Amino acid sequence: MSDFAYRLIAWQRRHGRHDLPWQGSHDPYRVWLSEIMLQQTQVDTVIPYYLRFLDRFPDVTSLAGAQSEAVMALWSGLGYYARARNLHRAAQAVVQLHGGEFPRNAAVLAELPGIGRSTAAAIAAFCFGERAAILDGNVKRVLCRHFGIEGHPDQPAINRQLWALAESLLPAHDCDVYPQAQMDLGATVCTRTRPACLHCPVAETCLARREGRQAELPTPRARRSLPQREWQVLLVRTPQAVLLAQRPPIGIWGGLLSLPEIAPGESASAAALRYLGLAGAQCNELPPLRHTFTHFQLNLRPWLLELAALPKQLADAAGLRWVALDTLADCGLPAPVRVLLDGLAPFRLR
Ligand code: ADE
Repeated sequence: MSDFAYRLIAWQRRHGRHDLPWQGSHDPYRVWLSEIMLQQTQVDTVIPYYLRFLDRFPDVTSLAGAQSEAVMALWSGLGYYARARNLHRAAQAVVQLHGGEFPRNAAVLAELPGIGRSTAAAIAAFCFGERAAILDGNVKRVLCRHFGIEGHPDQPAINRQLWALAESLLPAHDCDVYPQAQMDLGATVCTRTRPACLHCPVAETCLARREGRQAELPTPRARRSLPQREWQVLLVRTPQAVLLAQRPPIGIWGGLLSLPEIAPGESASAAALRYLGLAGAQCNELPPLRHTFTHFQLNLRPWLLELAALPKQLADAAGLRWVALDTLADCGLPAPVRVLLDGLAPFRLR
């Protein structure tokens, strides 16, 4: 076994994390759920979502049979909502194609929606002790630094090199401890900024440390500024309810409830006429919110329209619906929309 893996395993036993809520379980449903939530999301953020989700959907059968709105509502605020849609589809696939039992090896796990090669390997290693390499963002950082690999880790050639390296370092035993060791090292010692090299079990052989290049490795992506997009939205509320629009199932905020959009070039009052049949509505612009997506930066410009009561012509077109203010907490809302609705001043009709 490589000295690298051996040192990491010994380190994880003494200094790694042992009390995360998904640890100590070999139940692939729990491990899978945690691994999906932990993609792109910090442990501290995930824990309350994970516990609530398990409470509501304790096993794969209950998740497979759930309404998608209920799944999205439990995911609301975690971001990267494609993860929740894939999670639901994968649960249905496990029930329909595998009799409700998760496949017991990484290659078949990776055929399920939303389970990539690294996640499949983590589940197979944690639950079934499979000797399979993981390569998430943390592991890439550790390997790039330790072995002095240059070039952005997501470039195809570098990515291939990293997978080959990760495979070559696999231990002969403790295959369930090793992936956790790598994750823990990346999260607690070999952090993105200011790594704690004095506490690192492989500091002696680390190239970045020897050459003082921790800040340069992994090589950052060539910087490009994100394109900007602007969305104007209508926030119509009465003392009891707010008008929301169901997003289409795929794309940005797919399946969530959001605010009705004002079309490019349309005024807020024209949108109020279009959605509600209200002519001459007085709308007031609220301060904009900024939100960063992977591929663009959103400038969300809300226009507030306050009504004393629900208008006679009820909006039921194009996925519009009135949602009672006291049920908003249970809705799957995009994070900036939640921020906006939570921050609204008490209703005051002008
Ligand atoms: N990040 C991804 N998987 C993880 C795990 N099992 N424990 C801690 N952090 C993680």
